[in-house]
Amino acid sequence: MRAPFSELPVVFDGVTVAAGAVTILDNLTLEFTPGAPTLLIGPNGSGKTTLLRLAMGLLAPSRGRISWGGRENAAPLKRAIVFQRPTMLRRSAGANIRYALRAAGVPRAERARRCGELLELVGLEALADRAARKLSGGEQQRLALARALARDPAVLFLDEPTASLDPTATKAVEDVIREVGQRNIKVVMATHDLGEARRLAGDIVMLHRGRVVEAAAASAFFDAPQTAAARAFLAGELLV
Ligand SMILES: Nc1ncnc2c1ncn2[C@@H]1O[C@H](COP(=O)(O)OP(=O)(O)OP(=O)(O)O)[C@@H](O)[C@H]1O
Ligand SMILES: [Mg+2]
Repeated sequence: MRAPFSELPVVFDGVTVAAGAVTILDNLTLEFTPGAPTLLIGPNGSGKTTLLRLAMGLLAPSRGRISWGGRENAAPLKRAIVFQRPTMLRRSAGANIRYALRAAGVPRAERARRCGELLELVGLEALADRAARKLSGGEQQRLALARALARDPAVLFLDEPTASLDPTATKAVEDVIREVGQRNIKVVMATHDLGEARRLAGDIVMLHRGRVVEAAAASAFFDAPQTAAARAFLAGELLV
């Protein structure tokens, strides 16, 4: 048994990311703690993807510190991320998962069983032998989730996994995310879709122009947003 939440909390302490003269994230202080999914929302360019890359450890802050379970420089062994447009290997769906299991150090004798479990979790058992790149967008997103879960993560970062999917495909992906959350895996997910945020979030972090404008329990955020920016965003107004 792995210790649950060994990566948590993920703590951002005064984190700034700058690219040249441009400040992409500005003095962020926040925590991702065990529990229901955290949804990152905010307009295009507000910094959601950059925040996910930092939290995964793929990008270092220009200023400030990030720690995972109290450690800075922690190896990202129990973290996984699914990017907005995942790239599939030119192999079958099952082979994509088996490759991820091997990369995660799962012994050969266990891979077939684990692969079967992951295909079932994401509802792709019937498509195991289909070329991954021939799968629909929604099926590829579910395959990408299965591949990320092959790492047996304690925390899973998702960057707009349902962007450009239709309602049926979106529901299938959201069902997997809900199931993942129930397995003690912390989900931190960016979305544009406020309906999706309402359906999935335990708490919300709203970004605007590289700053956290509001971080709150989902019920508090949706029922009583504290800032003008959050109220405008919830009302469907354009935030510029
Ligand atoms: N390497 C970089 N150099 C310069 N600017 C960058 C770099 N990476 C990101 N940015 C800028 O930082 C801002 C935040 O980008 P980011 O991709 O994190 O936003 P986002 O909230 O994920 O947007 P979207 O909703 O469109 O996915 C954008 O204005 C982007 O152009
Ligand atoms: Mg993004």
